[in-house]
Amino acid sequence: MSLARIHNMSISLDGFGTGEPQSLEAPFGHAGERLHEWMFATRFWDAGGIAGVDNAFAERHGQGFGAEIMGANKFGPPGWQDDPDWRGWWGPNPPFHTPTFVLTHRPRPPMEMEGGTTFHFLDASPADALAAARDAADGKDVRIGGGPTVVRDFVAAGLVDHMHLVQVPIVLGRGVRIWDGLEALEDAYDVETVSSPSGVTHLTFTRRTAA
Ligand SMILES: NC(=O)c1ccc[n+]([C@@H]2O[C@H](COP(=O)([O-])OP(=O)(O)OC[C@H]3O[C@@H](n4cnc5c(N)ncnc54)[C@H](OP(=O)(O)O)[C@@H]3O)[C@@H](O)[C@H]2O)c1
Repeated sequence: MSLARIHNMSISLDGFGTGEPQSLEAPFGHAGERLHEWMFATRFWDAGGIAGVDNAFAERHGQGFGAEIMGANKFGPPGWQDDPDWRGWWGPNPPFHTPTFVLTHRPRPPMEMEGGTTFHFLDASPADALAAARDAADGKDVRIGGGPTVVRDFVAAGLVDHMHLVQVPIVLGRGVRIWDGLEALEDAYDVETVSSPSGVTHLTFTRRTAA
């Protein structure tokens, strides 16, 4: 069974997965890089990094996926749809190496990149997008890659099997929150937490199987 999984989704103590306003110069708005400093310190990110608890969680981001789904605001800054030359933030060889589905209300033709990533642009419901990604994933899992709006929508639609969040000890106060509308999420998931010496808390949500 191909699972839908979320990994390394970093949130502030107050639940924001990005700050504001998002722009070309500041993709995470006033959050800057603070949500991901824990990850930049790991071996997953940098060969000279630390191989501890944070690394063990971070590495799962790359394991067992045959496709990714992301939102329009992860793919580019506001207005990228007006730029025919915009090909994402990641350069000619993006780090996905699979078919990657970008949800947008203004789709464009697919874009084949180096290294196995092809961006497909979809205006579809979360369920239909997941079905398309599963078809492309060749039996492997589908990563729901964010941002927080897409994570929230897929969780709300009951489509996510496993979610790994990283709670960073900062309070952003504004931005895009993942929790809104997800009341009593713990009823559907087993929730576990692991504290890291770095100061972040890893939370995993694993969907309960029907009794
Ligand atoms: N904290 C983390 O770990 C993490 C991870 C990934 C990304 N991020 C950051 O999060 C930010 C983006 O998050 P976000 O919540 O603002 O936006 P997002 O989830 O990336 O994208 C939301 C947008 O995608 C399009 N969309 C979503 N569902 C759709 C559907 N079913 N059909 C068609 N279009 C759909 C809509 O854009 P249009 O209407 O414009 O088409 C919507 O406004 C960026 O700063 C990114 O870098 C953070």
